[in-house]
Amino acid sequence: MELSPEAVKLLLEWFRKNKRVLPWREKREFYRVWVSEIMLQQTRVEAVKEYYLRFMERFPTVGALALAEEDEVLKAWEGLGYYSRARNLLKSAKQIAKEGVPVTYEGVRALSGVGDYTAGAISSIALGLPCPAVDGNVLRVLTRCFADGSNIDEPATKTKFTEVLRRAYPQETGDFCEALMELGAIVCVPNGAPWCGVCPWSGLCRAHLTGEEERYPVRNDKKARKIVNATVCVLERGGKYALEKREDKGLLANLWQFPFFEKVVDIHSFGEVVATKKAKHIFTHIEWNMTGYLIEAREFFGGYEWVSAEEIMNSYALPSAFKAFTEWVK
Ligand code: ADE
Repeated sequence: MELSPEAVKLLLEWFRKNKRVLPWREKREFYRVWVSEIMLQQTRVEAVKEYYLRFMERFPTVGALALAEEDEVLKAWEGLGYYSRARNLLKSAKQIAKEGVPVTYEGVRALSGVGDYTAGAISSIALGLPCPAVDGNVLRVLTRCFADGSNIDEPATKTKFTEVLRRAYPQETGDFCEALMELGAIVCVPNGAPWCGVCPWSGLCRAHLTGEEERYPVRNDKKARKIVNATVCVLERGGKYALEKREDKGLLANLWQFPFFEKVVDIHSFGEVVATKKAKHIFTHIEWNMTGYLIEAREFFGGYEWVSAEEIMNSYALPSAFKAFTEWVK
C-alpha cells in the first residue's frame, strides 16, 4: 500500500490554498506548536483558539511558563477539560527550561503528556522531521482512501497507515502533517457525508470511486458510557460560597467544585433551597446527570472553603462540567 508522490503533491497544493487561518499557524516555533498540540488533544479547534491566544499572552515563552504556579496554569486552562494536560505542560516546561528544547522525535515523545500522535505532530511541524502523526481523523482519511476494509479501531490499522505515511513523507513535513489533519477536519468529515466534491483526493480515493463513502471507516460497536447520578449543592452564606477540592486521582483530579455527592444526601440539612436546576455533562467514558440545588446555608459548614464570587471567577479553576451551576454565583 503506497501513497504516491502525486497524491502528496495534490494534498500539499490543496492545503496551501485552503488551510484555515489559525493562531498557532502564524509561526512554527517549538513552544507555540507544543502548546497548541497539547490543547488540541481531544478538543475542537474552535474551542481551542481563544484559550490558545490567552495562554500565549499569559505565558509567552517556555521560560515564563516554567516559572508559573500550578494553580495559575490550571486557571488559564479552566473550561478546556482534561486538566492533566495543564499539569504535564507545566512539568515539561520546567524540564525544557533546564535542559533545552528537544530536537529529536524521541526527545519530544519523552515529554509528559506527549503520546505518539502529538510527538509526530510536533516533530513534523516544529522540527521538520518526517514523523507521522496518526489520530482518529487522519486514520479516517486514510482508511477511506485505501478502503481495504481495515478496522479503524484495531491497533494494527494504525501501525500499517503510520508506515504508509512514513514512506510518503515529503520535504515539507509540517505542511504534510497539517494537511492530513486539515483534510480530516474540513473535508473528509466523520458521520456520513464527506465533502468529496472539494477533496483533492477524490480522483484516487477508493471509497469515493466505488461510491461507498458511507461504508467507511469500518469500526467496532461503541461501548455505552457509564451514567452517574450526582447532586451538586451550591451553598451560599453572606456572599460566600462553599467549595471543595476533588481528590487527587481520577476524573477532574484536584480541581475545585461545589459540594458534590454521588450518593443520596439530605439537602434540607444544609439550609433553605432557593433554586434547582438539572444539568448533564458528558466525559469520554462517563456521563454525569446532575441535580443542582442553590441553598441558603444555615451555617458556615466545616470541611469547605468559603469564598466570594469574585474569588471563584479569578482564582479557582472550576471545570466547565459545573457551568450551569456557576451561573448561580453572583
Ligand atoms: N488538530 C491537532 N493538531 C492540529 C493542528 N496543528 N491544526 C489543526 N488541527 C489540529
